[in-house]
Amino acid sequence: MDYRKRILNLLEYKNHLKVINNKLYIDNISLETIAEKYGTPTFVYSEKRIRENYRKFYKAFRKRYKDVEIRYAMKANSNPYILKVLKEEGSGIDAVSVNEIKLAISIGFSTDKIIYTGVNRTKQELEYAIRQGVLINVDSLSELDKVIRICEKNKIKANISFRYNPEIDVKTHKHIATGLKESKFGLHENDAFIAYKKAKKCKYLNVIGIHMHIGSQITSPEPFEKASEKLLRFAGKIKNELGIKIKIIDFGGGLGIKYKAEQQSIDVDDLATVLIKKYHEAMEKYNLDECKILLEPGRYIVADSCVLLTRVTAVKHTPYKKFVGVDAGFNLLIRPVLYDAYHETVIVNEVFRNEYERYDIVGYLCESGDVLAKDRELPKVQEGDIIAFLDTGAYCSVMASNYNMRERALEVAVKDSSTIIIRRRESYDDLISVYKI
Ligand SMILES: Cc1ncc(COP(=O)(O)O)c(C=O)c1O
Repeated sequence: MDYRKRILNLLEYKNHLKVINNKLYIDNISLETIAEKYGTPTFVYSEKRIRENYRKFYKAFRKRYKDVEIRYAMKANSNPYILKVLKEEGSGIDAVSVNEIKLAISIGFSTDKIIYTGVNRTKQELEYAIRQGVLINVDSLSELDKVIRICEKNKIKANISFRYNPEIDVKTHKHIATGLKESKFGLHENDAFIAYKKAKKCKYLNVIGIHMHIGSQITSPEPFEKASEKLLRFAGKIKNELGIKIKIIDFGGGLGIKYKAEQQSIDVDDLATVLIKKYHEAMEKYNLDECKILLEPGRYIVADSCVLLTRVTAVKHTPYKKFVGVDAGFNLLIRPVLYDAYHETVIVNEVFRNEYERYDIVGYLCESGDVLAKDRELPKVQEGDIIAFLDTGAYCSVMASNYNMRERALEVAVKDSSTIIIRRRESYDDLISVYKI
């Protein structure tokens, strides 16, 4: 698809981004002006869009079932400003590390709205989380033993759920499929049964939940439907064979977004219809009790709220290829390299031009693999242009590194037509402050 069609198609789905006088705007502020004011590379978030995504997601489920809550997967983006926005919206938190729990608590999320999921956790990490009173989502039989030892030794109670592995194949990148037969996550059916049976016998454990998370960037409801069917049948089995009454069913996160014009995105209303229907059927079929339903979206809430602004520092034609070089690299935007991900690219200072060419957009790192966009048709690029990488709100800034001693980028939020710095740019002093010199 050519550049103009690609951009116009994608912008149809993003009401926070608009082309005005051939320049790209975010919530009525020119991105060129933001780049001039703050420099590049800079992540720019639309607060309005984050709130909109959250509300759309929540409403889709809430209108079909009354006892539903969101646990935002803060691994997608843990910027405290974003967490505060989502707290205001009523979200809880899905945390995957002790530091995530600490940050969520410091922002004011109540501990009964935090679920702690993870793999290969240490005794110290589990003990900290148990003492905070967050819901511990247990991942393996050996982890269950660890939790029991901690509770018995300290005579403290823990609320727990188990991560159930439904063995479902999903059409997504292999690095982000998490509920496969071969996945390292969760308990397969037989072990899950043993785990619930064992946990029930421990007087320090309240066994209240069951959880699944089958992967990320999933663009159709079918895998969720199949996985939830298995999970609900299993919840019925432990109720009817072990007498365990599940009070919380957590269907995880994983909803995909439309990164590319040709790509489908999942319709959250369709997903809510499917999951709530499955749940109601299962209640009848397996004699389940009324439960609270939890969902853990990350990407869906934040991904499309953000653009990464970069400046073109070089245009290079070799006998074989044309390269556009920008002042960012996979240290800031690792998704193309790690997941073969596609991020749409727009020249914000002059969105459309008369001449077009194909380029690889490459970063400033000394690595051949530092390619942010491959064989991409763009308006004829000039040094000094500002290129925005779209949909960089999830799994981008949180995965950034200091490789090549590069500073991590500035982050700015747009709120009510003004801009706020929500993470300052790192300096040389920040980078060396951890070393003995
Ligand atoms: C346990 C758990 N829940 C939720 C999520 C959020 O996934 P997504 O950002 O695809 O919604 C993840 C991310 O992989 C996860 O590991």
